[in-house]
Formats: sequence, structure tokens, C-alpha cells
Amino acid sequence: MSKKLNILMISSEMVPFAKTGGLADVVGALPVHLKKMGHDVRVVIPNYSMIPHADYGITPFIDFMNVWMGTKEEYCRVHNTRIKNDVPVYLIEHDLFFNRWGIYHDSDMNDYIDNPKRFSFLAQAGLKLAENIDFKPDIVHVHDWQSALAAAYLKIWHWENPVLGSAASVLTIHNAAYRGIYPKTFYDYIGLGKENFNEESLEMFGAVDFLKGGIFYSDLVTTVSPSYGEDIKRPFNEFGLAPNLANKGKNFYGILNGVDYDEWSPEIDDNIAANFSKDKMLGKKKCKADLQKRFNLEVDETIPVIGAIGRFVDQKGFQNLAPAIRLALNDMRIQFVILGSGDSGLEHFYRELPSNCRGRAGSYIGYNNELSHIIEAGCDFFIMPSLYEPCGLNQMYSMKYGTLPIVRATGGLNDTVENYDEASGSGTGFKFFDSSPQAVYYTIGWAVSTYYDRKEHMKKMISAAMSMDFSWDKSAREYEKAYERAIENKMNYDKWPR
Ligand code: ADP
Ligand code: GLC
Repeated sequence: MSKKLNILMISSEMVPFAKTGGLADVVGALPVHLKKMGHDVRVVIPNYSMIPHADYGITPFIDFMNVWMGTKEEYCRVHNTRIKNDVPVYLIEHDLFFNRWGIYHDSDMNDYIDNPKRFSFLAQAGLKLAENIDFKPDIVHVHDWQSALAAAYLKIWHWENPVLGSAASVLTIHNAAYRGIYPKTFYDYIGLGKENFNEESLEMFGAVDFLKGGIFYSDLVTTVSPSYGEDIKRPFNEFGLAPNLANKGKNFYGILNGVDYDEWSPEIDDNIAANFSKDKMLGKKKCKADLQKRFNLEVDETIPVIGAIGRFVDQKGFQNLAPAIRLALNDMRIQFVILGSGDSGLEHFYRELPSNCRGRAGSYIGYNNELSHIIEAGCDFFIMPSLYEPCGLNQMYSMKYGTLPIVRATGGLNDTVENYDEASGSGTGFKFFDSSPQAVYYTIGWAVSTYYDRKEHMKKMISAAMSMDFSWDKSAREYEKAYERAIENKMNYDKWPR
């Protein structure tokens, strides 16, 4: 039995409070599992103005907290609540920074220009809160560029601090494409000292690089799947962090995300038309009919439905899916539904698709959690044509709902889906390797022909997919080991000359 740890998590997103993607799912679930294992986990997030306090039992906690940044003292309030299994969550209220429409950008998708201030403040405020409540963390676990600088503050500012001084830091990279690179003019506010603004740590061609700084100062860095870890470490890859990650040696590696089966299980999901399980699949038929009705598709259980959900950004490959699905809808007896938002060109394409393919295609442009469950439950296939994918959660959700994933073999998609073997009927989904519309089209064709012509194989794959277990327990145990290693690293680092 390992030592019980005090873990402070700082994040810009967390389910159920604020979510733009999988980061929120992870931060909503991992602490709960760590808590179950006996650790004392506390989470700090911003008090975005769209979070409805009454819905989540959020109440005022600290009336006044001062947080020193490089050039000024900021004042904030703190609210708190608890999520499942009693994990305390602290919400930092700072009107100027978090009282606005969005999390990272405005309604026209323009990033807020003061993001470097907002999130360096979050990092520093998270640490300050620990001090204020006298919570002495063994581990400060930060996520992506938004909270990465907490690792730097720990090493540069809080070295001698009685509450924070011995804390080791772990940075989890959910997406290396979002670096948090900002003009140097923000550096004084961030306040990490001119002597630390260099190419090895916080500087990127004269700009401030939050993620790079986080990597440098963390005692251990993880990412969210082993394959993606290898990808971003590979020399000369497109993310540009290879040397920094390689420098971490064995202190950088991938831990696969888990799935929160309390939220994502067809047996208990109350968002869907009927519950079902591997041995009682009748409910899935009802879910399919319900999905077809909702999206004005022809209600016919014999037609395979392919679903897609996600942010319309380059990463997700919906630009390759667009021509492929258009053609597939013409050539094959299939139906298609998509839920997502982002790029305006793609929003337009998918919004218009149903009027061009009446009864065969449906779309919802926007964000809708309930609908995402309905799609997972009602479809036969779920497509993820990502150009890269650090982990990806929907393919794992799909498998649980007996909805076979069709994925590009990259990152976490490659690690979690077992490709269909036509000889034996084994596998849990369909993989393709090229990132092109052609590859998407032909793989849809492969899945659809399996649906119509190899029904026994379909059954076998559905059963195999539904039996997969990606629960958090296993991943949480790996994080526990990562924490122990980070603590050891911090102790050794202590011995270095300062
Ligand atoms: P990423 O974090 O890169 O967006 P993930 O697959 O890790 O990708 O997680 C995406 C999460 O966000 C999933 O839980 C998915 O269901 C959800 N999601 C994405 N877009 C939407 C949407 N438009 N409506 C509802 N849920 C969405
Ligand atoms: C990121 C990645 C996604 C991953 C998620 C949670 O947003 O794009 O692949 O599943 O973080 O770790």
C-alpha cells in the first residue's frame, strides 16, 4: 500500500462545471478515483461566470485572497463545493478575468488576448489557496498550458515556503498543439524573473511559452496515451517539443485516460431512450429508433447509422470526413449524424448536409451533452478521422455502447481500438492509416460491408467492444506511481545547487 498523498490539482476545465473537451472529463474523474484510493485530493478551477452555483451547491468560502503576480497584487474570492465521493473543489473568482462569455475565447472564436494573465494568475492563485487553507501538497498536478506555470512558480517562487516548498509537480499534456505562446510583454506580469527567460525553459523565439516552461520545471511530465507520448517525443515532429520532452528521459511518458463509467454506461445512462447491456441489447434498438426520429432520418433498424461528435478544428479531421461522407451517403445505404461546432466552413457544410441528403443525414451544430449520449447509444458506428489524437474519449465511450469505432490509427485511438480481422472476426473497430478523404471513405465502406455481409463478425466485435474495460482505476494507479516518482525527483532536485 503506497503512502497517502495530499494532491492539489489545478485545471482550467472540470466536469460538471466547465467543459470544452476531454480535459474536463479527465479532471472530473481522476480525482474521484484517487480519493477512493485514500488520497486527499483538492481541485482548483476558475469561477467562470457561466457556472450555476445553485446547481452544484457552490458556496462562498474565502472572502478575500491576495495573489502576488510579477507586477501587481491581484485580489480574488474563493467559493467551494464537493463532487462525488467528497472531493473538494475550489473556484477562484476574479471578475476581470473570469466574468465573461467564454472559457478561452469570445463568441466569434477570438482567443481572449489576456489569456496569459488569466491563466498565470490561475496557476499562482491555486498555489496561494493551498497556503491559505494550510493544505500541504505532496503533489501539485497541473494540466496543459493553462495551469502549467504552477510548476515554475513552485520551483522559482515557493522553494522555501513551508506549505509549498516540498511539493513535487506533475504536468499532464492533453494536447501539445496548444502551447500557450504569448508576447514577451506579458512576462513581467507572469513574474518568473528575467534570468529564467531562456530557450531551455520559458522562451520560444522571444515569446513566452507556457507549456515548454511547464515541461522544464515539472518533476514529471505525462501525456494521455503511450502512442501520443512516442509521437511528440519523436525528433522533428510537428509539435516542436521533442528536445524538451526527450530531456525529461524516463520522466516523460503516456498514461492512457480512463472512462468515467458512472457517466458513460448504457446500463445506467438516463440521457438515452432505453438502457441496455451486452446481454440485453433490445434497448439499443430503441435508442437507434429514437436517434433516427430526433434527426429526421428514416426510421429503419436495418440501415447502419454512423455518428461523429467533436470540435471542428483541424486536429479532428472533419475536413477529410466532409467529402468522404458526402460520397458515402450517395454510394452506400447508410445514415449519418454529426454533433459539433468550430470552424465556420465546416459548420456550414454539416449544417447543410441534411437538406442535401434528406432522411439520411442529420446534424446539430453546437454543444449538447445529452445529445452526445444519444448519438453514442443510437449509432452502429462512430467515426473519428483525427489527424492526431492525444487520447480521445469518444472511441472508448462508443465501445461501451456497442457502437463500433472507425478511427484513424493515431495516438490514443491506435492504443485503444483493436483493428477488425476479417479472417477471424476479432477486433473492436476499424482502423485506417492515411489522413485523406479516400482513406475515410474506403474504411466507411469496409465497416458498412461488414454490417451487411458479415453479421456474425459484427456481433462478435460488438460483444468484444462492450467488454473492454477502460475504467479509471487502472489509470489512477499509474498516476499514483507517477506521483511517487515525481516526489523522488523533487527530493533529488533539492540537493542541486541553487
Ligand atoms: P478533445 O478533448 O480533443 O475535444 P476528447 O475525445 O478527449 O477530445 O473529448 C471530447 C469530449 O467532449 C467528449 O466527451 C465529447 O463527447 C465531448 N464533446 C465534444 N464536442 C461536443 C459537442 N458538440 N457536444 C457535446 N459534447 C461534445
Ligand atoms: C485533449 C485531446 C484529447 C484527449 C483529451 C483528454 O483535448 O485532444 O485527445 O482525450 O485532451 O485528455
